[in-house]
Amino acid sequence: MTASVAGGDDIRDGQRAAWAGLSPAWEKWDAVIMDQMEPVSTAMIERLGIAADQRHLDIAAGTGEPGLTVARLAPRGHVVLTDLSAEMLDVAARRARAQGVTNFETAVCSADDLPFADATFDSVSVRFGYMFFPDLAAATAEFARVLKPGGRICSSVWVDPDRNPWTTIAMQAIGREAEFPPPDPDRPNMYRCAAAGYVSGLYEAAGLRDVAEWDVPVELVTRSPAEYWEMIGEHVSLAAAALRGVDEAARQRIADAVTADVRAYESDGEVRVPGLARCIVGTRPEAATMRT
Ligand SMILES: C[S@@+](CC[C@H](N)C(=O)[O-])C[C@H]1O[C@@H](n2cnc3c(N)ncnc32)[C@H](O)[C@@H]1O
Repeated sequence: MTASVAGGDDIRDGQRAAWAGLSPAWEKWDAVIMDQMEPVSTAMIERLGIAADQRHLDIAAGTGEPGLTVARLAPRGHVVLTDLSAEMLDVAARRARAQGVTNFETAVCSADDLPFADATFDSVSVRFGYMFFPDLAAATAEFARVLKPGGRICSSVWVDPDRNPWTTIAMQAIGREAEFPPPDPDRPNMYRCAAAGYVSGLYEAAGLRDVAEWDVPVELVTRSPAEYWEMIGEHVSLAAAALRGVDEAARQRIADAVTADVRAYESDGEVRVPGLARCIVGTRPEAATMRT
């Protein structure tokens, strides 16, 4: 699998448009999404070791996590939330206002071309962003470049679809109605970075040290099969893209199939569907040993 691709502008344009379109759904389902992803943020932040005066960079911050949590933990520090999508960052700014968080700023930029000087940040986070970048090696080199020597990066990606029924239930039902081309490993895809050791390899190639990865279970909790389907169809990039290609009748058949299939996860008035994320941590060594 190669890490970089031709056609980066085309990928960035596609991602910018896709996430602008998804941003209202991410705001609508904010509480459910944040509850599902919270164990991942906790695991990432624990490894980053946030100090009260931390200078932190959150890449592909979207609607603001884990950057805003870091900002709350670093009252004398400062957090920069970056993303390709201004619309996603607008949601992040509204969430920050609602939480009373002020020690942050937002910057619209691509992960592989960061507008920051070398060695600016004590730590970097990338929660569920890696799989969408056009050039994963270039992006990783940028993260290493802007970290201070000794600074840490922690990112998270999704482990394979089989261990993520929270998306697979819906994708299998959509797949019975629509043809999907096989995923291109060089183009954005939710499971593009699923292979064990893949992101670790990118870190090591960028000169990062003390690289380790570990898996973190998550659970998507909704109040009913209907709510599960509404939420997945509206905010999951893979499902929303696949649904654009089906007509109304097929959409209804998919909805019926998904709501039937997800009943296996329903109990006590809740639907709890599991998933598995992988976190990857690394450290920028002292300047003399960097390869960026
Ligand atoms: C699944 S969301 C993750 C948002 C947030 N970190 C979270 O975990 O809730 C993926 C984000 O990656 C962003 N993204 C996609 N391509 C990007 C790129 N080249 N540079 C920076 N961000 C990008 C999207 O705009 C989107 O906000």
